[in-house]
Amino acid sequence: MKHIISPTDLSLSELDELLDLSEEIIEDPSKYSEICHGKKLASLFYEPSTRTRLSFEAAMLNLGGNILGFSSADSSSAAKGESVADTIRVISSYADICAIRHPKEGAPLVASHHSSIPVINAGDGGHNHPTQTFTDLLTIKHLKGRLQELTIGFCGDLKFGRTVHSLITALARYSNIKFILISPKELKIPDYIREEILDAKGISYVEVRGLEEVMSYLDILYMTRVQRERFFNEADYVRLKDTYVLDSRKMTLAKEDMLVLHPLPRVNEISTDVDDDPRAVYFKQAQYGVYVRMALIMKLLKLV
Ligand code: CP
Repeated sequence: MKHIISPTDLSLSELDELLDLSEEIIEDPSKYSEICHGKKLASLFYEPSTRTRLSFEAAMLNLGGNILGFSSADSSSAAKGESVADTIRVISSYADICAIRHPKEGAPLVASHHSSIPVINAGDGGHNHPTQTFTDLLTIKHLKGRLQELTIGFCGDLKFGRTVHSLITALARYSNIKFILISPKELKIPDYIREEILDAKGISYVEVRGLEEVMSYLDILYMTRVQRERFFNEADYVRLKDTYVLDSRKMTLAKEDMLVLHPLPRVNEISTDVDDDPRAVYFKQAQYGVYVRMALIMKLLKLV
């Protein structure tokens, strides 16, 4: 039985298969509409979510399956002190597969050690968010046509942004990838990403403060929100939250085929005047999240 805790829990060939299956679903979203008949997905969300929880649930419903779960720790027995290990032991007898989001790094890994059904990490603290990464990879592959030979700018909160950590880890497995890491010094990527991924694999990267000076080099601009919920004090958040605002003027500096991705939710970091630019693909990206999660559910349940 396979669990998805980190974006590299799929080999490159398994990832290719996942993305190919997702592309099939983009072409015909109703193709597998009955394949999960009689199956149940448990969505265990100990932390707020709109896209990840609802796209997992939409994915299972699109496949003809059913859903159960909770959307906050307060509405589960975690509020009474139940451990993740005990919860997953019980849920294993209620559902066939589960997606778990938790504010503590490593909680989905702990769950996987006590589970008899596949566990999918739907985001653990500031650590990883593998299904967002699969969504991002599908978006890039489908709209750009490749996952190699790309210069990708990550902009904003690179310290706490788990989507950034996961996507860097995943993209580092492809050839001729260059990263431009754009952040204030307080929000630089964690040392373990720099040392264990970028330096260890000899990936080309630079760390810069300014967005405008690098716009013209980018094939992909991955914008991120400053993660208020992970700051230790409000004053630091307030000081840093509006460091970057992508607007239509800055978009004039970019290549004509650069894509703007954002895992969402957005706060102020992308002005709404960018939304109608054909290079702004973040809402399409959220839609692709349903398709890639449909493909992942089918793969983990060994239905295809
Ligand atoms: N991208 C993402 O994880 O969004 P939610 O927090 O709304 O699930």
